[in-house]
Amino acid sequence: MPATPELKPTETNFPAIVVSGIQPSGTLHLGNYFGAIRQHILLHDQFQSYFFIVNYHALTTLQDPEALKKYTIDVALDYLALGFDPSKSNLFLQSDVPQVTELSWIFYTITPVSQLEKGVSFKDKVAQGLTANAGLFNYPILQAADILVYGGTQVPVGADQKQNVEICRDLAARFNDRFASENPILPIPEPYILDDVAVVPGTDGRKMSKSYGNTIGIFDEGKELKKKVMSIVTDSTPLEDPKDPDTCNVFALISLFASDDRREEIAAAYRAGGYGYGHAKNDLLSLITETFAEARERRRTLETDTDYVIDVLRAGGVQGREQAERIMEPVRTAAGLITTY
Ligand code: AMP
Ligand code: TRP
Repeated sequence: MPATPELKPTETNFPAIVVSGIQPSGTLHLGNYFGAIRQHILLHDQFQSYFFIVNYHALTTLQDPEALKKYTIDVALDYLALGFDPSKSNLFLQSDVPQVTELSWIFYTITPVSQLEKGVSFKDKVAQGLTANAGLFNYPILQAADILVYGGTQVPVGADQKQNVEICRDLAARFNDRFASENPILPIPEPYILDDVAVVPGTDGRKMSKSYGNTIGIFDEGKELKKKVMSIVTDSTPLEDPKDPDTCNVFALISLFASDDRREEIAAAYRAGGYGYGHAKNDLLSLITETFAEARERRRTLETDTDYVIDVLRAGGVQGREQAERIMEPVRTAAGLITTY
């Protein structure tokens, strides 16, 4: 299991507030878990924190209302099953906090188009031949608003989100410079990225990603899970020969799950020979099954009570809107926006 580093202090004197968003655009997989969700669960009960299901972001690529609704509830179920305690933190829907889109607009007006043209996600999606709608282009601005509307100072995300957090930092600094230079209103948030899980490999060895169809779902089980694990690509070193654990996708996944001792034991078996990729895959299968056994049970129970899930999201939304209003009042005033109601 990768170690969990301390939160880095921010440069400014704002209170530590942890925020992160997760897209409801597909079934959550091990890349999402080790890259982001695990850190969310570890941090959520230690700090004032806000975690939101970013359904507006998902709309930039998923325009199927039934699927969006399903994935939205699925993400909430996954978090609760994985140990998110709603009495310690806030889990809610991005679209339940209208101040987010309001702040996005203010940010549009201080963002050079040239900065968005350099966005890696935007460039990637265009390169893949996806239609570049304006939402996709402006995606990082909405993400910056997501973070800053709650005064977020720490943003636990996977490594591929570094650039988006960088854009957010620029926007916070630019807003402060332009509208609140004497008394900065917005913190400059820090990304919180674990280097040793920078990229979780998928079954084909490329980055695990739903767009590559190489994912293993957090809650996959039974035959489906077995089939995916058995399909992980390896080289063809014969069973009896020594193998290099450090170049093996199966071992990379084992390392994420296993205790240090177990990891070393398996690495030694690789190097000794007589331990085949089939053995390694069976060990991985057991590790996945054990790690998520309790969560899987909890999820099964929660699935029968979606009213509870909606109640959790509703209560989180109340907290989200209150905090957003605390930030937006000085933001509006600083920008010269008069409110008459
Ligand atoms: P996505 O669903 O791709 O928007 O990702 C949600 C979160 O999971 C982000 O913080 C990503 O950086 C993280 N993530 C997704 N895939 C991986 C992966 N293969 N390895 C590490 N982190 C990932
Ligand atoms: N873009 C992020 C992802 O794909 C999701 C996201 C949206 C997010 N808003 C955020 C992450 C705010 C952290 C903070 O994973």
